[in-house]
Amino acid sequence: MYDGFRACDRTGGVADVWQTAYNEMLGLFRNFAAIPIPLSRADGYHIHPDKIAEEIARGTSVILTSNPRNPTGQVITNPELAQIQDICRDRATLIFDEFYAGYSYTTNCDGTVVSAAENVEDVNEDDVLIIDGLTKRFRLPGWRVAWIVGPKEFIKAIGSCGSYLDGGTNVPFQEAAIPMLDPPKVHAEMKALQTHFRTKRDYIVGRLERMGFKLPYTPNSTFYLWLDLSGLPESINDGLNFFNACLDEKVIVVPGIFFDLNPSKRRDLFDSPCHHFVRVSYGPRMEVLEMGMDGFERVIKKHVFIPRPNRAVVEAGVRSADWCAIDIRGTGGVRARI
Ligand SMILES: Cc1ncc(COP(=O)(O)O)c(C=O)c1O
Repeated sequence: MYDGFRACDRTGGVADVWQTAYNEMLGLFRNFAAIPIPLSRADGYHIHPDKIAEEIARGTSVILTSNPRNPTGQVITNPELAQIQDICRDRATLIFDEFYAGYSYTTNCDGTVVSAAENVEDVNEDDVLIIDGLTKRFRLPGWRVAWIVGPKEFIKAIGSCGSYLDGGTNVPFQEAAIPMLDPPKVHAEMKALQTHFRTKRDYIVGRLERMGFKLPYTPNSTFYLWLDLSGLPESINDGLNFFNACLDEKVIVVPGIFFDLNPSKRRDLFDSPCHHFVRVSYGPRMEVLEMGMDGFERVIKKHVFIPRPNRAVVEAGVRSADWCAIDIRGTGGVRARI
């Protein structure tokens, strides 16, 4: 959420402002007060329309969110999405990053894409900016093709900024993208995408649950799972230590703290609400996901079985190094609750 952004965008003289040196230009951002709106794990990181109304009542003028959301894998759909847009109409600018819009499992994989566009009454009047591109749902990150849908006035200003900053997307790739965006083709592509990724999501969810993780909700979109590690043994119950332990098994996850919004760095790292989380991606191929989940199991096995000598072991005079091996086979290990 960036208060004050609207004033800058609406001047119509944005291009002039941006003709300054980079340092001065970046200095402009200091005028924006970014206020994160924390969502609650207890209700699956849902965005409640009431919360948005509350923020607007206290004077927020721009609301920025991705929908669907990375890293929680949750999406807000109609009628609540429409309700939020109604609350904001004529009061605040809404910016939706819809890069993951195709990865939605809320409509039985029928190819439907959740988008705020559906609720826009007049594209030039509604203060709604929708950002999308080829990176995620068309799986072409290297093309660097993205677009923004919104009122002409905004698009003109953003276009000026973009062409000044990086010159914009190269024309051959833009031209190659147009036939790919033909609606019937997109619909067929999204249907295949949703079916394929829902299978991978269900696989990952199933494996994690069998390992003992309790998932408070099944992610309804994206290809990410926000995994709570707090029930694991202390040695691996935070994102950084779990990440390190996974590296030993050639598995990569992203420590949760990388997703923390901590403007002005007011909070200590260990107080972060993301500290005990990692983001798991089920983007890779199924065979790779299988290897990844096998790696998770090895990590957990290594850490949850606390070797202790059982009587048979002690009586047999087995060396301490052997206890672990014997315990892992299930004779005397202590299985921590996950
Ligand atoms: C919410 C969101 N929007 C957009 C993008 C796409 O960014 P890029 O095209 O720079 O990879 C990402 C990438 O992870 C993302 O998470």
